[in-house]
Amino acid sequence: MTEGSSLIRGLEGVVAAETALCDLDGAHGRLAYGGYDIDELARQATFEEVAYLLWHGELPKAGQLDQFTIALIAARPIPDALAKTFALVPKKTDPMRVLQAAVAILGMDDPDATDNWRAANVRKATRLTSQMATAICAHHRIRQGQEPVPPARDLGHAANFLYMLTGQRPSSPAAKAFDASLTLYAEHELNASTFTTRVVTSTQSDMHSAVAAGVGALKGPLHGGAGEAVMHTLFEIGEVANVDRFSEQAVATKRRLMGFGHRVYKAGDPRAAILRGMAEEACRQSGQFKWYEMAVKLHERINAAKGLIPNVDFYSAPLFYSLGIPVDLFTPVIAAGRIAGWTANIIEQYEDNRLIRPRGDYVGPKRRAYVPLRSR
Ligand code: ACO
Repeated sequence: MTEGSSLIRGLEGVVAAETALCDLDGAHGRLAYGGYDIDELARQATFEEVAYLLWHGELPKAGQLDQFTIALIAARPIPDALAKTFALVPKKTDPMRVLQAAVAILGMDDPDATDNWRAANVRKATRLTSQMATAICAHHRIRQGQEPVPPARDLGHAANFLYMLTGQRPSSPAAKAFDASLTLYAEHELNASTFTTRVVTSTQSDMHSAVAAGVGALKGPLHGGAGEAVMHTLFEIGEVANVDRFSEQAVATKRRLMGFGHRVYKAGDPRAAILRGMAEEACRQSGQFKWYEMAVKLHERINAAKGLIPNVDFYSAPLFYSLGIPVDLFTPVIAAGRIAGWTANIIEQYEDNRLIRPRGDYVGPKRRAYVPLRSR
């Protein structure tokens, strides 16, 4: 190990890049993309505007948004070979594993696959954003023995996702809640999956390789996989009346509760506060209010007992569930939002790249002589 350097477990607090994408103020629980507060973006902007902001640094003017929307819609279809591959995948395969493979396959088909210049990367980011949404929905339909639903050209990105998933045009409150969720997940500085995409990019690999690696990192339950785990916790609790007993046991046994805690936010995750309001409304509309009530009670009990705050994945679980999203698609849905931020970080990394290569602190045996096989 280099003399004078010290080990920082989990790279906590280490600053590894300059970024103009996301301003994360953990102490005050504030978050902004490109200078715009997340609350305003979630309530007023569309996911398309947010993706444009992340890739270009400014919100689009009307004409720019029209052109960008046309490009996103044109990019929605996926290659036949990918749909055929979905039919070959064992039905029980985790959709995140399928998504990771799908991104790699999309890279085989992309005309700019190995071109890492900015214009090519923006084209690839546009295609990946649209194609990943179509791929997630097509795989889900195929695994259920249904035909994929072709994208609808007259629907926005979020509404089209729900349409391709269910075959039904979503209500406008459902489409708005889903659109805002994609915005809330779109970008979050150097979280584990985004850092992964930067590490891959730093070797001068390509965008599809970086995104496929990011999907793999997002899948884990300490990261994006937490949302699915939150819903399983709520299923385990079952009824509002069981929350107290469950919470006491969880605290007593030091159980790690998914959807609570955050590496950077200690006072509160601003995304969770927005999602809480959306979950309340969606659970009420869907007639499944008990999931919201259980989540609120669990939040209060765990916060009072351990001071832990709910993170972005806590209230998105009852929200997604009441929007009719299957539980094992919660993490792919997060990926469908985070693709905007992953690709923006990849573009930013290329613009000021240096190989990311930290050191390890060696704690193994001291130097020793090789022992031939016959003498061991
Ligand atoms: N449940 C119970 N205890 C917790 C939790 C939790 N969810 N989170 C942290 N703690 C406790 C730990 O047990 C530890 O206590 P100790 O010091 O007495 O041992 C202390 O808080 C610090 O925990 P760390 O794991 O060191 O905190 P770290 O910053 O490394 O972890 C993380 C952050 C991984 C998010 C953690 O809070 C966690 O595991 N949460 C559950 C998983 C989750 O919800 N992940 C989603 C994060 S948001 C996202 O990625 C989209």
